[in-house]
Amino acid sequence: MRRTIVSPSILAADFADFGGAVEQIERSGAEWVHMDVMDGCFVPNLSFGPQLVEDLRKRTKSFLDVHLMIVEPGRYIENFADAGADAITFHLEAEVHSHRLLTKIRSLGKKSGISIVPSTPVGMLEEVLPFVDIVLIMTVNPGFGGQQLISECLEKVRKLSLMRKERGLDFLISVDGGIHEGTTDAAIEAGSDVLVMGSSFFTHPDKSDLVRKLQR
Ligand code: DX5
Ligand code: ZN
Repeated sequence: MRRTIVSPSILAADFADFGGAVEQIERSGAEWVHMDVMDGCFVPNLSFGPQLVEDLRKRTKSFLDVHLMIVEPGRYIENFADAGADAITFHLEAEVHSHRLLTKIRSLGKKSGISIVPSTPVGMLEEVLPFVDIVLIMTVNPGFGGQQLISECLEKVRKLSLMRKERGLDFLISVDGGIHEGTTDAAIEAGSDVLVMGSSFFTHPDKSDLVRKLQR
């Protein structure tokens, strides 16, 4: 079993102090920084764009895990790659030519990620799995932090983990939405490697303790 990676989502941070949020993440020992990009179209909320990735890149060596919740993600891949993202994840539901886009992300020297919302069956990913480095299973309907995990989505993690094993692939499985101390065990047990944590990370009184326990 791999070591669990914690990817705190700065969507739950103080928007007036993203630099401070990244410092808190670094101090906690978490290795990744999850950045939720929202366009008000694919999801009913707006957040930030490549400029923030570029500015945070200057401040941190942490792995920048960019999650695009936008329509036509192909229009912005180069912008996020140039800005310094380490991984770029887009939604299967937002892109017809996902194979092309995954290949492009890799050709730009970045980790390629694909995500599905709770209503999309995990079998839809079958053909693209050899081209992905990360599969992000949304465990809430995307758009907002602080929602409750939809437990049926962990069944998708289980299925995906089995598909990975049967086909001898080695992409990472990430879960995003409603991940907190009450749900991490079930998420890890189902086969997750990366835990995206927004509100539960930023409201936690002892972030290093939280991260240390999960990394074990
Ligand atoms: C939801 C985002 C998540 C969100 C998770 O649309 O993709 O990354 O920040 O927030 P929590 O952990 O609070 O559910
Ligand atoms: Zn996310």
